[in-house]
Amino acid sequence: MSKKTFTLTNDQTGENWTFPVVESTQGPSAIDIRPLFAKTGHLTLDPGFTSTASCSSGLTFIDGDEGILQHRGYDIRDLAENTSFLEVAHTLLYGDLPNRKEKEEFEKNIIYHTMVHEQIHHFFRGFRRDAHPMAIMCGVVGALSSFYHDSLDIWDPRQREISAHRLIAKIPTLAAMSLKYMLGQPFVYPRNDMSYAENFLHMCFSVPAERYQPSPALVKAMDKILILHADHEQNASTSTVRLAGSSQANPFACIASGIASLWGPAHGGANQAVLEMLKQIGHKNNIPQYLEKAKDKDDPFRLMGFGHRVYKNYDPRAAVLKSSSDAVLDELGVDDPMLELARELESIALEDDYFIERKLFPNVDFYSGIILKAMGFPTEMFTVLFAVARTVGWISQWKEMIEEPGHRIGRPRQVYNGPTLRPVLPLKKRPAKG
Ligand code: ACO
Repeated sequence: MSKKTFTLTNDQTGENWTFPVVESTQGPSAIDIRPLFAKTGHLTLDPGFTSTASCSSGLTFIDGDEGILQHRGYDIRDLAENTSFLEVAHTLLYGDLPNRKEKEEFEKNIIYHTMVHEQIHHFFRGFRRDAHPMAIMCGVVGALSSFYHDSLDIWDPRQREISAHRLIAKIPTLAAMSLKYMLGQPFVYPRNDMSYAENFLHMCFSVPAERYQPSPALVKAMDKILILHADHEQNASTSTVRLAGSSQANPFACIASGIASLWGPAHGGANQAVLEMLKQIGHKNNIPQYLEKAKDKDDPFRLMGFGHRVYKNYDPRAAVLKSSSDAVLDELGVDDPMLELARELESIALEDDYFIERKLFPNVDFYSGIILKAMGFPTEMFTVLFAVARTVGWISQWKEMIEEPGHRIGRPRQVYNGPTLRPVLPLKKRPAKG
């Protein structure tokens, strides 16, 4: 705790209360208001958490003004260029990039858990074929808690670790199964001789009738997309996982709650929404008309893939994806007019005063959909891929929270604005309405 303090004054009574400042290693420090209610009898109100740090965390640092994203001190561009997704997963879970021995051991531990219990296959059959794969994921990931009773004691560090390994290992298997179910194709079992990204592509795209070997460039692109989505500080889904976990709920159920939150179009669902929006715009000549709609407060249309609560600069993940998109599309031999349209839309929006004044830049979802589409994923799968990657962040954040000394259940308060006490009237005396 630093020696810095903040003093709050009640303007009516002149009373003063002093609160300590918690220093960060990078970025804003925080006023520790934990004793505020006991001292003053007042709460703070911050419904969208725009000025509230819900926890201290050493996993991910974002400087939204500068467009910086780091995991455990490593820059996202450096990680995307020079590491694999499982190395990033190790970094988030354990604090550092693994050395050679740690890397081999971690990969072995994850690979050991890639299969799912055979009974889980029956869960899928209960869903309609046209179910959204995110709906399926919410259900089957939560259902994992009914299969792995040997790793549900959250106070046992080894059980926590096994649950984390199981989740990281099984989430691609379940995601691929949800795709196969949607397509009406047989489930494909994982292959432990392949890398994490390669195995995922294999489970998604191979069929028993044909040999499937993804190109190294495709595997690299998949791995990079996973790295870019691995963690992102205290966003809506991560905060959901932490809040669910704060009640000591089991980790599989907590991750299912994160998947539910991620699904929303204001969060992870935006990557699907971007492609739907580009399809709707259709041609570059229509861009001005859609920009006007996005700026009109009476029109619910927003420019999907634009804007971010924290980034008031170019999202660094979008920058990496934008620069990879050409290479990936070239490698796949795809000439997608959507990419051209997206670039045109971006350059026109970035010149527009409305977007300049509000510091609205492309976020990670703006280009990811185009790359995923080129790879052959249907749009419904985009958010599922995000969930596969983000599971690493969610479970690392959950583990960090459980391991924090003095951990307490998360219990926000409210400013009550409903009716005050009134009597229950007999039915015949209740007033008519309308
Ligand atoms: N299109 C048009 N206007 C926008 C957009 C947009 N995409 N995003 C923000 N604005 C405007 C708002 O209307 C508001 O204008 P005002 O000041 O005149 O009222 C101003 O910019 C500030 O926006 P807020 O809604 O206050 O920003 P907030 O931080 O609450 O929301 C969010 C951030 C949800 C990401 C928002 O920018 C948005 O809806 N973007 C589109 C959806 C999207 O791409 N989501 C993915 C986010 S990244 C992720 O989750 C991985």
